[in-house]
Formats: sequence, structure tokens, C-alpha cells
Amino acid sequence: MDLYREEILEHWRNPQNFGEMKKPDVVVEQVNPLCGDRVIFFFKIKKGKIEDVKFTGSGCAISVASSSILSEAIKGKSVKAIERITGQDVLVLIGGDIAPARLKCVFLPLEAVRKLTGR
Ligand code: FES
Repeated sequence: MDLYREEILEHWRNPQNFGEMKKPDVVVEQVNPLCGDRVIFFFKIKKGKIEDVKFTGSGCAISVASSSILSEAIKGKSVKAIERITGQDVLVLIGGDIAPARLKCVFLPLEAVRKLTGR
């Protein structure tokens, strides 16, 4: 099996930062209009920094894996740093080589998280 598929499957089976958060400072949500799946991210923010992040939702393996990988990447970072994360960055993190029809699944979490920056 391809390496990137292993990475995705591992994060899907064992998603990092998965679950709801009590008393979050910010909650953002994004729906994939193509399938109706949704991701919800919860944040604790202190002095412009993401102290904690969690996510829930109903999504395919790729969107869950992408959420998990992205949540790890942004934890502890500044909110401003999110503005610099591109779709290409997420593709690299997830292992790249995703079928075009599934790119929306990969980018769904990034679209949600970008709402934190007002973009
Ligand atoms: Fe719905 Fe991937 S099929 S997010």
C-alpha cells in the first residue's frame, strides 16, 4: 500500500485532537457542499496563540485525516500563522498525490480553520 495512504489511514483510525472542547473561545464550522460532510473546530486562544484545538464532525477518511494532521500543525502556533498555511502545505502534510475529486476533502479543514482569521 502507498505510504500516503498509510498516513491517512493511521490518522483516520487514530485522529489527533478529536472530540469536543468544553468552553472553547472560538468555534468554526465548514460543510463540504459536494457531499454534505462537515467539520467543526474548537479553539482555546490566548494572546493570539492557539493554546488548544479539537475537532469533530462527520467526514470521510481523508477529511478526518486532514483535520487531524492540520490540528497538530497549528496547535501552539499563532492565529496569524494560519493565514500563511496554503492548500499545498496541507497536501504535503497529508502526503500529496490525492485524486482531484478528493481535494475538496483535503481542504475542508483548512477552509474551516481559516475562518479563525476572518479570511
Ligand atoms: Fe465528504 Fe470527503 S467525501 S468530506
